[in-house]
Order: sequence, then structure tokens, then C-alpha cells
Amino acid sequence: MDFYFDQRYYPEMMYDSGVVSVQLLVTTLAITPLMLIFRSSRKMVSILRWFQRRRRYLGLACFGYALIHLMIYLRRNSEFADVLWHMEDPKIAIGWIALLILLLLAITSNDKSVDTLGSRWKKLHRWVYFSTVLIFLHWALFGFFLSEMLIWLVPITVLQAWRLGLRHR
Ligand code: HEM
Repeated sequence: MDFYFDQRYYPEMMYDSGVVSVQLLVTTLAITPLMLIFRSSRKMVSILRWFQRRRRYLGLACFGYALIHLMIYLRRNSEFADVLWHMEDPKIAIGWIALLILLLLAITSNDKSVDTLGSRWKKLHRWVYFSTVLIFLHWALFGFFLSEMLIWLVPITVLQAWRLGLRHR
């Protein structure tokens, strides 16, 4: 069992869990700007509505994969002292902060929290943008597969910038 985790599959599993989590995050964030862009196309709007209705689950799945990513990391770094020591490294510390924000968002992704928090719920869930910035920073600082990172980073930055511009106008 250790062979799979430590020798061969650790980087692959870290990569798969991390990237799938990013893909789910970007998909979740792309829905609203795409709805605005394609608002005149009935077919596109109905497809995007399907995603919009399931946005909460996409967000939870993103958190789920991030949690798997952490479990794989902890499986290899099982000493508490090592985990603490690694946190001194900015790329790992940034990953922890991003994950804690995702945790906060995941536990408040239910109807009861929406009712209880009222207008504060929206404000809280805007932290997803900060977490996204941290996640890309975490990825960039490791410096692996940067061209693949850009495939996800560039479109979502353009979409969100466009949406922001639209709101200001
Ligand atoms: C507790 C927080 C986290 C820790 C300790 C952590 C740890 C790591 C480590 C050690 C690597 C390098 C893997 C390798 O050596 O191959 C890595 C890469 C990566 N992480 Fe994280 N991570 C955390 C949070 C996150 C979160 C929240 C996400 C996304 C939602 C994420 C996405 C990624 C991605 C995309 C990579 C680059 C893929 C790769 O080349 O391996 N990480 N992380």
C-alpha cells in the first residue's frame, strides 16, 4: 500500500485531486458570467440554468476534492510536527488558508444558513473569489504544469473581469 502512496502515485494523486477541485471551482464561477453573455440564446440559457441550479453541489464537490487532496498529503506527512513545519512554506500556508475558506463556504451552503445569515450570506460567499486567487497562487508557487493552470486561470479571469466591468457600467 505504501508503495502506491509514496513512490509512484503520490504526485499523480495530488495532481488529480488538486486539478479536479480547481476545475469544479472555475466551472462554478463561470456560470453567472456565461449566463450574461449568452442571455439571448435560449438553448445556452437552458443549459446554463441546469448548471446554475446545481451550483451548490459543484461548490461542495470542489471542496470534497480539495479535502481528498489534503488527505493524500496527510497520508504522506502523518507527523503533526512535519505538517506544522511545512506551514512555514508560503505555498503550503496559502493552500491551508484557501481550504479553510472553502470549508467555511461548504458548511454554510445550505438553506438554513441562507435564512440565518440573510444578506451576510452573500457577503460571506464572496470570499470564494479570494480563495480562488489563493488557490491559483498555491498552484503557481509549486510551478508544476503552469501551462495547464493558464487554461483555467485565463478564461475565469477574463469572464470575471468582464462581469465586473458590466456591473460598474
Ligand atoms: C491544506 C491545504 C493544502 C495542502 C497541504 C496542499 C498541498 C499540496 C502539495 C504538497 C502540492 C504539490 C504536490 C506534488 O508534490 O506533486 C500541491 C499542489 C497542488 N495543489 Fe494543493 N494543497 C492544499 C490545498 C489545495 C487546495 C484547496 C487546492 C484547490 C482547490 C489545491 C490545488 C493544488 C493544485 C492544482 C496543485 C498543483 C498540481 C500538481 O502539480 O500536483 N491545493 N498541493
